[in-house]
This record gives sequence, C-alpha cells and structure tokens, in this order.
Amino acid sequence: MEAWSINSFELLKRLLNDPRVSKDPNQHWPAFINGEIPQEWPFFIWVAVSNMFTAYGEDHMRLRKLVAKAFTPRRTAAMRPRIEEITGELLDAVGAAPAGEPVDLRSAFAHPLPIEVICGLFGVPEKSRDGLRRTVESVFNAAAEPEEVAATQVALYGLLTDLVSSKRAEPGDDMTSDLIEARSEDDGSALSETELLDTLLLTISAGFETTVNLLDNAITALLTHPEQLALVRSGEATWDDVIDETLRWRAPVPHLPLRYAVDDIELADGTTIRKGDAILAAYGAAGRDPELHGDTAADFDITRPTRRDHLAFGYGAHYCLGVSLARLEANVALPALFERFPDLALAVPQDALEPLGTMLANGHRVVPALTAPAV
Ligand code: HEM
Repeated sequence: MEAWSINSFELLKRLLNDPRVSKDPNQHWPAFINGEIPQEWPFFIWVAVSNMFTAYGEDHMRLRKLVAKAFTPRRTAAMRPRIEEITGELLDAVGAAPAGEPVDLRSAFAHPLPIEVICGLFGVPEKSRDGLRRTVESVFNAAAEPEEVAATQVALYGLLTDLVSSKRAEPGDDMTSDLIEARSEDDGSALSETELLDTLLLTISAGFETTVNLLDNAITALLTHPEQLALVRSGEATWDDVIDETLRWRAPVPHLPLRYAVDDIELADGTTIRKGDAILAAYGAAGRDPELHGDTAADFDITRPTRRDHLAFGYGAHYCLGVSLARLEANVALPALFERFPDLALAVPQDALEPLGTMLANGHRVVPALTAPAV
C-alpha cells in the first residue's frame, strides 16, 4: 500500500486542517472504493470502521457531537477518585514483589490502569475485560498475520455486541448506555447499529493502548534520564512538563492511518499530492522535527521551550476526544509511582528495552524494574 508520510510538523498541521484532506475511504479513496484493499490487511479495521474516526465533513460533526455529549469534562473530572484508587491498588501489588525481584511495570502498572479506567467508564463487565485487552492489542499490531486480523475482528465485534445487548437490557450510569440513548440535536437521530458498535470500538480502543504507551514511555524516559527526574522531584519542572515532553519525544501513536486527498494538493516545494492518494500522519516524526525543535530534537528534555509543540493528540477536526482523560490518568499515575518507590530503577540496561515492533504504537514489550535496591 502506498501513502505519503507527512513528517514535517508545519506541513502536517496544515494538512490536518485542510478540507482537501479526508478520512473517509468510502468517498475519497479509489483503491478502497474499487475493492482493492483486502480485509486481511492489518490496517483494514483502521480505515474501514464506520465512526467519527473515518468520517468527513458534516457526517463527522454529527458522529463526534453524539459522543462528545456523553463524554463531558464533568464525567472525566469525576473519574479522578477512581483513577487514584486503581493506581493505589496496582502500586500495592507492585510493592508486594520481594526486594531484588524485577517487576514488569508495563504489565503490572502501565497496562492495567487505563484498561480498568476505560472499562469502568463504559461499564464493561469484569469477565470481558481480558478478552477486550487482547483484541485491542492485536488491532495495534501492524505485523499481524491475516488469520489473526480476521480472528481479532470476530472477537472484538462479539464482545461489543454482547456489551450493547446487556446495556440495552439493563442500562447503567456508563458511556455505553449513554451512547445507546444519544440523539442528535439537529434531527433527533440515534447512532445506527454499525455506528454504535464502531464508536464503542473506537472510544474503548483509543482509550487504552495509547495511554498505556504514554505511561510506559514516561516511566522509561525518567528512569533513563535521572537528571530530568530530579528536576520534577525538586519542583523545577512539573508532571505536565514530563507528559508533554514524553508525547513530543515518543508519540504513543507514531503513525495514524489513513487520510486521502480530496483534490490535487500542491505543496510549497512543488510536490503534488494527487487526488485519491493516501496520506499517513507521522505524529512521531513531527514531534522530532528539527525545523521546530532544533538539532536537540532527539533529546528528552522536559525544560525544552517547545515541549508543548507536538501533534501527539492530532490536530483539527479529529483532535483527540480523550485528551483530558489521558492527561488526568498520567497526572495521577506518574507522581504516585515515583513517590511510592523513590529508588525505582530499570532492572536491565537501557538498550535491552525492546520496542513493541509495530509502526502504530511506540512503547516497550516489557519494562523490568526494581522498586527497591537489592539487599
Ligand atoms: C495518550 C493517550 C492518547 C493519545 C496519544 C491519543 C491520540 C489520538 C490521536 C493522534 C488522535 C487523532 C487521530 C487522527 O489523526 O485522526 C486521536 C483521536 C481520538 N481519540 Fe485519542 N489519544 C489518547 C487517548 C484517548 C482516550 C483516553 C480516549 C477516550 C477514552 C481517546 C479517544 C479518541 C477519539 C474518540 C478520537 C477520534 C476523534 C475524531 O476522529 O474526531 N483518546 N487520539
């Protein structure tokens, strides 16, 4: 599959706000319309879903408004005590490991926290949470084999269909029940059945794999840059500085598939992106653009004046709807972890940390750490 990868911060920002760039393959991607994109393609689910993520213009506004209505800042702020509670429980479990025995901070902390939060928000029953976690992980696996891609789609829609029917039978104070009930202010219409399932798929999966990687990247960045951690501990920098610099330095979603040119788009250097061409938003590269961040762009520096200049949450019409939830989770989790374990250290050399191995997500397979010095 061919696509233009846009890795310049300025150009990406401009294109994300350009009405000549669409996310709807049904209207604007000839290869998709002509049936040339196979279902087994690992990105298929990213482009073929029917929700705000792949909608354009007014249709996008309609779908986004229905979700935004259920996803209010009040509801996000009300999550804080629950996030603190889950964080405390996970840290107790991490702290229970015998001194000198490494704990994987990804599977024991960075991973379960966002999953518990999002499953609580959507009222996902305990018994489905593990299945959901495994299927969403697979959605982010750009190297998945065709059989895995097909199995993931079946499993994911099975879990979501069960969730919707249980909430129809017994509505609760959760976002799934709200989305079932949501009606457009313009014409009173509800989400269609496909839109409902695909919107749940989007919000639930967007809500955790991304935040898992923000936590993983912030933890590993601080453990490998003790001088930066010292700045937060002394109060010379804030946890928000850590969060923004982490998002800039290692965007949780380094590549976002896909967008399509609605018309020919001429760039300043004379290049033309032709109508119907596919476009990949290279959020990871844009965060390290030397044009903006200078020749230290690759360094992790929480005092950098341009730390907030990143596109890790996207930009324009499709700007992340969960940004305040993601920031809240990181603002609770990170200080709690580093306060609870003042001697926290990686249990392996920095270069032994293995990347996830997918172009869709920046993170590590495992983050082995020691919570206290070995005795
Ligand atoms: C660190 C955590 C997160 C990161 C890095 C992130 C990143 C992004 C990015 C890059 C986009 C733009 C996609 C595009 O280019 O079209 C996006 C959109 C979105 N995000 Fe997030 N996200 C995070 C957390 C969350 C959470 C916690 C939720 C919800 C619970 C969420 C829900 C959404 C939704 C619904 C959209 C689609 C918006 C639209 O198409 O109009 N995200 N996110």
